[in-house]
Amino acid sequence: MEYFDNNPRPPSLDVHSETARTFIEQHASQGRRVALVTSGGTTVPLENQTVRFIDNFSAGTRGATSAEYFLESGYAVIFLHRQFSLLPYARHYSHSTNCFLDYMTFSSSGGVVIGDEYQHQMGDVLAKYKNAKQENTLLLLPFTTVNEYLWHLRDLAMSMQPLGPNSLFYLAAAVSDFFVPADRMVEHKIQSSEEFNSLHKPGEAGGAEPPAAHMEGKKLVIDLDPVPKFLKLLVDRWAPRSMIISFKLETDPSMLADKARYALKKYSHHLVIGNLLATRKYEVLLVSAGGEKWLRLPENRRSRSVTKLQDGVDGGDHEVIEIEAWIVPEIEKLHTQMIEKGDPRIRDGA
Ligand code: PMT
Repeated sequence: MEYFDNNPRPPSLDVHSETARTFIEQHASQGRRVALVTSGGTTVPLENQTVRFIDNFSAGTRGATSAEYFLESGYAVIFLHRQFSLLPYARHYSHSTNCFLDYMTFSSSGGVVIGDEYQHQMGDVLAKYKNAKQENTLLLLPFTTVNEYLWHLRDLAMSMQPLGPNSLFYLAAAVSDFFVPADRMVEHKIQSSEEFNSLHKPGEAGGAEPPAAHMEGKKLVIDLDPVPKFLKLLVDRWAPRSMIISFKLETDPSMLADKARYALKKYSHHLVIGNLLATRKYEVLLVSAGGEKWLRLPENRRSRSVTKLQDGVDGGDHEVIEIEAWIVPEIEKLHTQMIEKGDPRIRDGA
C-alpha cells in the first residue's frame, strides 16, 4: 500500500512486533482465541519535532473495559492503545477524581494499606489482574500518532494470520480521518510570530506542495490529507480469516443506523457497533448480516458518573452494569458461530 511507502515505520515497531509474535505463538499453541482490541484516540502531529498536534476526545474507556470482558471470556488480548489512555484493570483507579491514593491509608503500625471499605472491590480487580499476568493473557502495546497506529495494525494483523478464525479484531480506537503526510510535515516548531514565520517557505517540508501546517500572516493554516481507509485492506488482505468488528461513532441519532449498515456493506466484515457520542456508555446498536439489535442498559443500572469512587454501587440499590459486559458476550456468541459454522459475512454486492 502506498501509505506505507511514504510514511515512516515507527522505531517502536520492531520490539512490539517481536513481543507480539511470541505472545501469539503461546496462545496459538494453547488453542486460545486472541482478540486485538484497539483503544483511545490517535494524534496527528503538525511538526516532525512535535510541539503541536491534533487529537480527539477518546479516553479509551470502551477499549479498556471491553478488554477486561474479553479476558473474562477466555480470550488472550493484545491491547493496542493510545499511550496514557485508560488501561484494563488500572482504569478503575486512574480517573482524575478517582485517584488510587484515595483508596490507601496507613495501618496502626504505619504501613500503607488499602482502606477497609475498598478491600472487597480492589481485591476483585487485583485478582483478575494477577490472573492475566500469571497466564500471560494481556499484552499492552502503546501508540500515539495515527501513523504509529496504522503501522502497528498492519503488522499485528499479519502476525495474527496463523491463528486463523481464532483471531478477532475489535476496533474501538477513534482513528483520525485526516493527517499530515510525511512529505508535507515541517521539521521544527511552527513559528507563530510574524517576524519569524516568514522563514517557513512553501515546499520547505521537501515535497512539491507547501507544508500542511504553515502560517499565512497571523493565521495558522492547516491543510490535511485523508487517511486511507484501512478497514477494507484489513478485511480483504491483512486478516482475511479473522472476525472483524468495527465501531461507528456519530453525534446525530438520525444517521447512526444508516451509517452502520453502510459500513457493514462497504467493508463486508462481521459486525458494526454503532454508538452516539452522548449515549455511548449505555446504549449501542449491533449491525451484522444476521440482523440488528439495540443493547440498552435500564436506567437504574447505568452509572451516574464515570468518576465515581466506588464502582458498582451508584445505581441506588441496583448494581451498575457496564455496557461492555453485554457487548462482549454477544461478540463471543457470533465468533463461536463463525468458527463452528463458517464465515457469515455479507460479501460485496450482497
Ligand atoms: O474511548 P471512549 O471515550 O470510551 O469512546 C469510545 C468510542 C466512541 C471512541 C468507540 O466506541 C468508537 O466508536 N470508536 C470508533 C470511532 C471511529 O473511529 O469512528 P469513525 O466513524 O471515525 O470510523 C468509522 C469506521 O471507519 C471505523 O470502523 C474505522 O475502523 C473505519 N476507518 C476509519 C478511519 C480510517 N482511516 N479508515 C477506516 O477504515
